[in-house]
Amino acid sequence: MSTSPLFAPLTLRGVTLPNRLVVAPMCQYSSTDGFVGDYHLVHLGRYALGGFGLVVVEATGVTPEGRISHGDVGLWSDEQVPGLARVVDFLHAHGSLAGIQLAHAGAKASSQRPWDGGDAVTPENARPGEGPWPTVSASAVPVAPGWPTPHALTVEELAEVRDAFVAATRRSVAAGFDVVEVHAAHGYLLNQFLSPLTNRRDDEYGGSLEARMRFQLEVVEAVRAAWPEDRPLFVRVSSVDASRDGVTVEDTVAFARELKARGVDAIDTSGGGLGGSWQHPIGYGYQVPFAAQIRAEAEIATMAVGLIVDARQAEAVVASGAADLVAIAREAQDDPNFAVHAARELDGSYEVYPVQAGPRLVGRDRLLAALGPWTGPDPVQVRESA
Ligand SMILES: Cc1cc2nc3c(=O)[nH]c(=O)nc-3n(C[C@H](O)[C@H](O)[C@H](O)COP(=O)(O)O)c2cc1C
Repeated sequence: MSTSPLFAPLTLRGVTLPNRLVVAPMCQYSSTDGFVGDYHLVHLGRYALGGFGLVVVEATGVTPEGRISHGDVGLWSDEQVPGLARVVDFLHAHGSLAGIQLAHAGAKASSQRPWDGGDAVTPENARPGEGPWPTVSASAVPVAPGWPTPHALTVEELAEVRDAFVAATRRSVAAGFDVVEVHAAHGYLLNQFLSPLTNRRDDEYGGSLEARMRFQLEVVEAVRAAWPEDRPLFVRVSSVDASRDGVTVEDTVAFARELKARGVDAIDTSGGGLGGSWQHPIGYGYQVPFAAQIRAEAEIATMAVGLIVDARQAEAVVASGAADLVAIAREAQDDPNFAVHAARELDGSYEVYPVQAGPRLVGRDRLLAALGPWTGPDPVQVRESA
């Protein structure tokens, strides 16, 4: 087995991740009425075959109104459990753990799929049968110019949203998930409460940082109570708002301390989503410093994410102590075998490959090493056998 720190198991509560590579949640906008189907089984299943330790199902609406688009996965009904259980069973059968990100999009709900434009749905741009719906938020503040003004949730309605997170958590237990991740990032509902850019409330849920955290902490506390003691709970945060006028990493350290006190096991340290375009440094591993600071100052496990594209880069994130886990999104779409390739590259291990492939590749790669690279142009390039 690989001896790289990237392939060291990690135990959180009663669950042991076989390695540190995680497939980040990625909306596929390919569900009908919130149900997953064969597409999701193959999309997610290929990452288990590709050696990732944990595969996290995309942002999953806890209510129909909490979906980003009509194509989002949902978990507001018991009928949605069996499809997800089928995905979980496949991931487990092939050596990965299964996570699910529970989400409410708030003022960013009722959007088009990205490939339809990604704007707010209007009666004019709607696909047939997929009209807009009214959105909600902390305050009546649109997420961007030109977007609809959301309804500011009343205290009674906040309790309903919290209960929807709890019900979805119970269904996640029924589906067999190992990890639940609460989505409090990217400018969606929970992030809209934390950010001073979108939270203008003057009740106990707005104003000071402590008040702006209150709703998320209530949700997390309730989810923790419904989620088994022996299974880890993650929260994805936007470590900073896109704009420098919003949430700072110091705010997020304070938030992470409160999350830890409520039984959260790891912070998935993403960023952005509110305040326009990204005003912070950008480049390979650009959010790793957030993971490192939050890990050091809040003393909680972190998962780094964002332009981590190379096995040695991922290994360095873990080896340097910046984060405990490395989440990969677009690079995994490009190379679902990222994890097995990483083990091979880092120390020549083929044991992360499925047994159907690994041993065959050992033999082939030995032969290729002896032959040297194909130099062409003739497709046939042979020599006498030894
Ligand atoms: C197709 C796609 C869908 C995404 N959907 C989600 C999502 O459902 N939830 C979420 O928190 N982030 C989502 N993200 C963000 C990724 O999880 C990740 O944080 C981001 O892409 C940066 O990582 P990367 O550079 O490895 O792609 C999505 C990204 C992509 C590319």
